[in-house]
Amino acid sequence: MGRDERRQGFCALMGDAPCWMHLYDDSNNPEMTNTNKSLDSFFDTNDARMEQELFEFLRIPSVSAKSDHNEHTAKAADWLCKSMEKIGLKARVYPTAGHPVVIGEWRNAPGAPTVLIYGHYDVQPPEPLNLWTSPPFEPTVRDGRIYARGSVDDKGQLYLHVKALEAHLTVRGKLPVNVIVVAEGEEEIGSEHLEQFIQEHKEMLKCDAVVISDSAMFAPGQPSILSSLRGLAYFEINVVGPTVDLHSGSYGGAVVNPAMALARILATFHDENGHVAIPGFYDDVIQWNPKVLEGMKKLPFDEENFLHETGAPQLGGEKGFTTLEKLWARPTCEVNGLLSGYTGEGAKTVLPSKAMAKVSCRLVPGQKPANIEKVMKAHVAKVSPAGVTVDCKHLHGGNPWHAELSGPIYDAARRALATAFEKEPVIVGEGGSIPVVGDFERILGVPVLLVGFGLPGENAHAPDEWMSQENYRIGMRAMARLLDEYSALAGAKS
Ligand code: BES
Ligand code: MN
Ligand code: MN
Repeated sequence: MGRDERRQGFCALMGDAPCWMHLYDDSNNPEMTNTNKSLDSFFDTNDARMEQELFEFLRIPSVSAKSDHNEHTAKAADWLCKSMEKIGLKARVYPTAGHPVVIGEWRNAPGAPTVLIYGHYDVQPPEPLNLWTSPPFEPTVRDGRIYARGSVDDKGQLYLHVKALEAHLTVRGKLPVNVIVVAEGEEEIGSEHLEQFIQEHKEMLKCDAVVISDSAMFAPGQPSILSSLRGLAYFEINVVGPTVDLHSGSYGGAVVNPAMALARILATFHDENGHVAIPGFYDDVIQWNPKVLEGMKKLPFDEENFLHETGAPQLGGEKGFTTLEKLWARPTCEVNGLLSGYTGEGAKTVLPSKAMAKVSCRLVPGQKPANIEKVMKAHVAKVSPAGVTVDCKHLHGGNPWHAELSGPIYDAARRALATAFEKEPVIVGEGGSIPVVGDFERILGVPVLLVGFGLPGENAHAPDEWMSQENYRIGMRAMARLLDEYSALAGAKS
């Protein structure tokens, strides 16, 4: 396949974004070739050690959701700070009202652009522990996978950037661009204090582009650049009937059952075609760039494999959309948890006094959490049956995001990924949420690049989370290369 064919294939996925120039070829730039050789040999010599360092990081159980882990979460922040200091960054732990933010800075490239690298050092709770093959905080390699809580989400993906910086600083004594690393400890609980932190440290965080690795590649060996993330509006619905659980024979039939009332409410959320039936829910959904949708259709998505990954008997969802559209381009309304009545062994005849549901909506570009809160609350109030009191509380939200997919940071990413993986990257969407992405873009006024090194089936948030050893290694090389490419493309600034 020639260079132009490659370009066309890639541009088809890019929609209206400008075409990439050409496959990066450094054979006629001896200086670049030599320095890359030395970066490569640095990585080759240090891969094993750099994996061991990641293991140290992974052994710290920085579970942000649980206050009895606060000491560990703080320890992970300190560990990361020291690790950045060791390689020559100016690093500091900034306390917040929640878990601290760790900042690492290197600003000795006057005139060169500044890249902000963001990631999170907190992890999800590891439970249920009995479903882990090896303990969650004892990183273990099996079949080329590093198993540990946080391996892929996000310690491994954050740390590979730190190691990319180390390679540059050790081999050349400098970085090709100025760098600020921002590592937070509250991403898994909604990044509550990060927006304010960015506002308050706007000057310190001033940069030309933000780079984030906290997502997955489309398939093994297939580097991927993210074009979108879904947003989130998370609710808790509480239904209360009688003051205490009642005998279901003595009272059942004459007293409204809160569990049934909740079931009726939840059943109104969708119509028979799987569309969300909450009035106003789709009002702000914006039309996707048809060319990006076209590109999505061209991706070699393996539906069978996806079904297999889930273990479900068959796939479902909103009629009239492909699976990738459902995951990336359509909003959802899902029950995350249900609680009511007797759930122990055997039968207990009881009419529960209350019922609770956790409900989350994933939002797509255009939708706003505040507006979804409004329409959800109005709808729940309208469909709530008499005989119970219903409360719908909004717990937290995050904006959806979509990328412009153009400019030097995207060109640099395309080149760096193509070189490191020996394969052109594809443009993919994402069903998950990273609320701070929109904040960075809005507050700092710069493009955000999301390039992930996870893989499908990586078990993020679940037992046996893993990160591919190979992706950790190639990811480092790719991100080291990204800084060179970006420096060359963005050039000296006035
Ligand atoms: N890294 C994920 C986001 C993500 C998920 C990216 C799946 C790519 C694929 C992040 O750590 C996460 O879990 N986000 C939460 C956001 C929430 C806590 C506000 C999510 O998506 O549920
Ligand atoms: Mn993450
Ligand atoms: Mn996560």
